[in-house]
Amino acid sequence: MDFFNYKDGELYCENVPAEKIAREVGTPTYVYSKATLLHHLMQIKDAFAAIKPTICFSIKSCSNINLCRVLAEHGSGFDVTSGGELFRALQAGGDPKQMIYAGVGKTDDEIRDAINVGIAAFNIESEAEIENIDRLAGEMGKSAVGALRINPDVDAKTHAKTTTGKKGNKFGVDIDRAEAVFEKYRGLRHLRIGGLHLHIGSPVYEIQPYVDAVTKAVALIDRLTEHGHKIEWLDLGGGFAVNYKSPDQAKPVTEHARALVPLLAGKPYRIALEPGRYIVGNAGILLTRVLYRKTSGSKQFVIVDAGMNDLIRPTLYESYHHIWPVKPDAKNVFATRDAEQKPVNGEVVDVVGPICESGDYQAIDRALPKTQRGDLLAIFTAGAYGFAMSSNYNNRPRAPEVLVDGDTFTVIRRRETYEDLVAAERV
Ligand code: LLP
Repeated sequence: MDFFNYKDGELYCENVPAEKIAREVGTPTYVYSKATLLHHLMQIKDAFAAIKPTICFSIKSCSNINLCRVLAEHGSGFDVTSGGELFRALQAGGDPKQMIYAGVGKTDDEIRDAINVGIAAFNIESEAEIENIDRLAGEMGKSAVGALRINPDVDAKTHAKTTTGKKGNKFGVDIDRAEAVFEKYRGLRHLRIGGLHLHIGSPVYEIQPYVDAVTKAVALIDRLTEHGHKIEWLDLGGGFAVNYKSPDQAKPVTEHARALVPLLAGKPYRIALEPGRYIVGNAGILLTRVLYRKTSGSKQFVIVDAGMNDLIRPTLYESYHHIWPVKPDAKNVFATRDAEQKPVNGEVVDVVGPICESGDYQAIDRALPKTQRGDLLAIFTAGAYGFAMSSNYNNRPRAPEVLVDGDTFTVIRRRETYEDLVAAERV
């Protein structure tokens, strides 16, 4: 569910016409809905209320500090995965006691910074990292806390590039070696390994992989407890999918909770979740304008001003983003956004960007209402891993970000300038 709706024939974000934002801020532009963000955060909290999880928003999915501040103000912690993300989470007013630090390649400086600001825990990915964190904490005269990330060997049935919990992926420690690792590092002097972490992939459309992973983790914690290890929390990671194509493509989080809560209720350890996409995915769109049309062979191209540098997901993961005019003709204003709903008198086109690569597209062979130069299009479900993965490729200044709250909108990141492009370079 989100607050991007067609009213009186045009797209609104909450109570603000998308066209007004494009007119004042230009295109391409990311637009986020505050109400949608908070709706999803609260939905997760409510669904899992029986086990009172700590929610750590996965800041890699969308990291504007203003948007993160909204989440922090509503009780969210942060899952960070680099020194830069830690910096951002702090800038957003995040509480270090609600921050966890993940990632297979933490540098010494990043580990020291995280210990210094007093993050809640590291999610530790290897034995070498355990030894390094213990050593660094010792050198600093401090102590660190961590969870061991296990690789539960379940198939999340998602894109090969974003599946993380199968044997052979680079993440975590194989679940069948976890007990030996806990045993080997029992009683470290400067690092207490008090938790277990897993993250099976993203986006995960099915519930069963979570059930399988959690069942394995719970059994592992039982065995560890029997052997005298004190496990204080279990972090289930993120990955809940969202609706890219149709309103019922992804299971609502309530269904995940219905399957997972019974496995976890009454356990003597706390539960953490690291959702990113579920909170912000449908809370953001990318507004883009049609620059040109052209024909090549049998193909019709609609060339828009958003390139793969602005939104890389379609070409990187073959992912589907619904695209629709902001002001469609009357016959093409539908009550729901559903990819199955074909345009009336439409056409099949490739929606492509201005970048010098054939892989620069937002949609291939897509049925759309007819569009012409100047028309404004919305690329939906672009809030997660949209701006966050954007770049300056082809020396294109990155798009601005706008946050809508009811009747008002605020530019929370200005459009980059040409000066920004060269600002860090030295002659
Ligand atoms: N926790 C860990 C350890 C993660 O690696 C991730 C995502 C998350 C949580 C959050 O997952 P989410 O709830 O957002 O699904 N760029 C890809 C997705 C990569 C996900 C990386 N890790 C995409 O655009 O689909």
